[in-house]
Amino acid sequence: MKKNIIIANWKMSLTDLEAIELSKKLVKKLKKQNEVDVAICPSHTALDRVASEIKRSEIKLGAQNCFWEDTGSFTGAISPKVLNELNCSYVIIGHSERREHLNETDGMVNKKVKAALANNLIPIICVGETFSERQEGHKDFKIMEQVSKAIKDVELNNKEIIIAYEPVWVIGSGQAVEPVEAEHTMQVIRQVIIDNFSPEIFDTQVRLIYGGSIDKDNILEFVNQPSIEGALVGGASLDVDKFVPIIDAK
Ligand code: 13P
Repeated sequence: MKKNIIIANWKMSLTDLEAIELSKKLVKKLKKQNEVDVAICPSHTALDRVASEIKRSEIKLGAQNCFWEDTGSFTGAISPKVLNELNCSYVIIGHSERREHLNETDGMVNKKVKAALANNLIPIICVGETFSERQEGHKDFKIMEQVSKAIKDVELNNKEIIIAYEPVWVIGSGQAVEPVEAEHTMQVIRQVIIDNFSPEIFDTQVRLIYGGSIDKDNILEFVNQPSIEGALVGGASLDVDKFVPIIDAK
């Protein structure tokens, strides 16, 4: 049985000292609970120190990006092998902010997914349509394309992946999409996963989560949908009093 997962994406919103402070508060405030997995994704520079803060808790560590090679002449890139050494369990790949500002393509996302899996990191693959793609009526096609390119020729063996559906136009807007609409998109993603892998793999090794203006007041409506198994949280993960209720929501 897969557990739901709540993942904090702290983006570039905190200094390293603020990230360490927030990790300390989270460790203190989070009740011991086995019902939901929890992961936090600070900036790369804070990973090592945040890892020390959370090592005796149930909170897992994630990174916000990685490169597709383990070592080599790639100035400024972050090795997935090093993320593994830093005790990361997860890595966010293909966030829309990287696709938009850094021209990250589906091909790069695919190479990063393979590199992450090879280094025993669980990739959190982000997909989502822009407002204009939606207005032009291409939403489902866009999602199918992004998911199928991200997992092209990926050998899962027994490893896990997470697909995060984040409609680009609601990120940071304070207004999430309708939960039933997110559920519809999850069904589209599910079909792509089944076509590329199998129903069994979908049931045991793939989790589908939603991201985009999640808060303590709307989280339940999302995770109560049949196919939504958690959330990727931006703004509301930066404040312990907003984030913990999302994890504890019942
Ligand atoms: P918000 O929760 O701030 O909308 O951000 C969502 C997001 O981009 C998480 O990756």
